[in-house]
Amino acid sequence: MHFSLIFVSMDKNQDLLNRRKLATLGGGKERIDKQHQQGKLTARERVTVLLDENSFEEIGSFVEHRATAFGLDKQRFPGDGVITGYGTIHGRLVYVFSQDFTVLGGSLSETHAAKICRIMDLAMKNGAPVIGLNDSGGARIQEGVVSLAGYADIFYRNTRASGVIPQISVIMGPCAGGAVYSPALTDFIFMVEETSYMFVTGPNVVKTVTHEEVTSEDLGGAKAHAEKSGVNHFTAANDVECLKKVRDLVTYLPQNAYELAPQPTIFNYTKSKLDQIGKILPENANIPYDIRKVVECVIDDESFREVQADYAKNIVVGFARIEGKTIGVVANQPSALAGVLDIDASRKGARFVRFCDSFNIPLLVFEDVPGFLPGTDQEWRGIITHGAKLLYAFSEATVPRITVITRKAYGGAFDVMNSKSIGADLNFAWPTAEIAVMGAKGAAEIIFKREIASAEDPQAKWLEKEAEYAEMFANPYRAAERGIVDDVILPEETRAKVIAGFKMLEKKAETLPKKKHGNIPL
Ligand code: HXC
Repeated sequence: MHFSLIFVSMDKNQDLLNRRKLATLGGGKERIDKQHQQGKLTARERVTVLLDENSFEEIGSFVEHRATAFGLDKQRFPGDGVITGYGTIHGRLVYVFSQDFTVLGGSLSETHAAKICRIMDLAMKNGAPVIGLNDSGGARIQEGVVSLAGYADIFYRNTRASGVIPQISVIMGPCAGGAVYSPALTDFIFMVEETSYMFVTGPNVVKTVTHEEVTSEDLGGAKAHAEKSGVNHFTAANDVECLKKVRDLVTYLPQNAYELAPQPTIFNYTKSKLDQIGKILPENANIPYDIRKVVECVIDDESFREVQADYAKNIVVGFARIEGKTIGVVANQPSALAGVLDIDASRKGARFVRFCDSFNIPLLVFEDVPGFLPGTDQEWRGIITHGAKLLYAFSEATVPRITVITRKAYGGAFDVMNSKSIGADLNFAWPTAEIAVMGAKGAAEIIFKREIASAEDPQAKWLEKEAEYAEMFANPYRAAERGIVDDVILPEETRAKVIAGFKMLEKKAETLPKKKHGNIPL
């Protein structure tokens, strides 16, 4: 009697192990081989690369769909096309879902969606990031409306979780139709070159409706979304590189909106960078330079992680570290469109500022901006509304905020780029700063119009008046006299001033007026 009980229980244990094994096989060897031939890892391999070794704990591996129509009753796979669970990245808890393209094309069923929602709910309750690895043919066509409702359940949670826990979407295969809206609602999107694409409607529909012939890659591949739409924040050459980049990004982020980002105790700073920083700006204020060189000289060595590097290059945004602490950097880029603010740059900057503010990441702004981009294209597409996004985002931010004006700070763009009047805590200017309503040439033309027109030599008069205006305003001292900048500093003093400033602001506690939420000009 006693022995038979043991046998029964051993059989049951073996049965469990068999079931577990089956659950790891996804859609079977043939489909897994196809996935590999395409240069893609399987959903399970991806989770292994993403997380610390042996840290993954799976939830819901036996969940199956309940649908019967169109032969689905004969196509049941344990896990239902998505692997869900939790694990660690560099020892810190994260929640993960990984869609398995080998199971019914990774398509999203009612139960597949419920599994994703389950880990999102756990992530919210426990205050840890959610990372979604997307590789799916979209709504499971055989299930119809319940799969659409499943998507909506996810969108709802994405929105509720926004600003509470970091949400990262990694696109590692198809992501089409309404399925794109979950990644779009998350904080960062990673894409893999050649094997991933995102679009609301694919090439066939595009051809029917607009008669354009375009490939999936050109329409919605990593490059298109990195350069043209800005939807893609980080591009990788393959799955492994992509997942490593995700691991790296997570080290810059706090677990949730109530915590601070982790602070590595070891950091490097090459002191000779202090000698270089003053040599970056060209003599002539109209010659461009790469603002990233200035950023690199101020932050810890090799700590800069640029976000949306290939989109709206006239503004540079990204994470960095100062004495090990995560900061968000926003910088005008004089080497692209002279660093002017346009619609795309304003949207890019605003989104990044809001992320940092949501997650307690102090902001460091480098300013060299000649103004907003003029033209009918910008005006008719709404530079007024879009420019206001950046203004709103900075004005609303309550994290420590420091601005360093390296050169031009002209017009409305001066106000927008984290000026003290919109709540920046400290504003420094280099001796090369020019803080004025506009450049001296344009200013002279307007305010000395009559004098120039009536002069014997109008050109010479214009130059004379330009020099007069420049003498008055093409420097940081008028602003410093008024306390609009707090100090004029040497370039080589910048790092020390920024470190001291952020230390002073460490316990900054500022709250917004009580409200349901603001109405950012969307
Ligand atoms: C069910 C699907 C599926 C889907 C793919 N499969 N997409 N099953 N529902 N949505 C299955 C295929 O039948 C096939 O099964 C397997 O997945 C692999 O698909 P293939 O077509 O062989 O792969 P490939 O050639 O690589 O093409 C991938 C693909 C294509 C481009 C994604 O499968 C495709 O176009 N699928 C449909 C995409 C789509 O229209 N989805 C609905 C979008 S609308 P077998 O058994 O042969 O391996 C949407 C609405 C969301 O998602 C709304 C939210 C608001």
